[in-house]
Amino acid sequence: MKGVILAGGTGTRLLPLTRLINKHLLPVGEWPMICYGIEKLKEAGITDILLIISKQSAGLYTDFLGSGSDLGVRLTYKIQENAGGIAEALELARGYIVPGDRLVVLLGDNLFLESLKPFVDKFAEQPAGSARVLLKRVDDPERYGVPVFDPNHPELISYIEEKPKHPKSDFCVTGIYMYDDKVFEHIAVTKPSSRGELEITDVNNLYAGEGKLEYDILHGWWTDAGTFESLHAAAEQMKDTGPEKKP
Ligand code: DAU
Repeated sequence: MKGVILAGGTGTRLLPLTRLINKHLLPVGEWPMICYGIEKLKEAGITDILLIISKQSAGLYTDFLGSGSDLGVRLTYKIQENAGGIAEALELARGYIVPGDRLVVLLGDNLFLESLKPFVDKFAEQPAGSARVLLKRVDDPERYGVPVFDPNHPELISYIEEKPKHPKSDFCVTGIYMYDDKVFEHIAVTKPSSRGELEITDVNNLYAGEGKLEYDILHGWWTDAGTFESLHAAAEQMKDTGPEKKP
């Protein structure tokens, strides 16, 4: 199993800070945001990790993280030139992921406390060509991808609606996704959305349409730290965690 953390994008909801530094290097507690995802992958036994970063602050990532050896992981870096969407960023992992590999993908601004290990173990038992996503019950599902469950197969998601005005459930699809190399075939046939991005929800819906999108529910604390409010809440929650300090 390999890990991919997507840390491209522009971070417009965190301007003006993100004019100075890439969102995923902003401080959360005692560590830059990116370190928590690395730590979560490592905790799940995943130590080969690809970081997809933007050109902005690229040197700061390598200055701070280097090869990853200080954190006990092996890091590889790739640059996403323009923020063309989450699926476009993930496409850059093609080549790093060889046939037969499985991957856990984290959005770099998703922060959470629960261990990924049990979910990764379940995914490892799934048939090739299927996927698994983690869900979280939230008060404001309209801000996220929202799953609609399959009434005949409660272990499957029928489809996901991205930022729906009228959400059909109070769950969000978190930025924690598990795939095998089939994901690159799905990305290859995905078209840019109305906002000009390759959407991860469209990729996940190709799995859902084939009856191959399973899920688990996160019960612990989780946030998407993409706004000042959630970033501050994350700093408070994470202040006693991080690479050298365990919850
Ligand atoms: O946090 C969970 C949500 O993340 C999901 O529920 C949504 O389905 C999913 O589309 C996504 O929604 P956001 O609107 O929050 O995505 P955002 O554009 O903020 O990007 C989230 C992360 O993805 C960000 O930390 C960096 C990475 N990213 C994003 C883009 C657009 C890239 O690496 N490259 C990109 O081009």
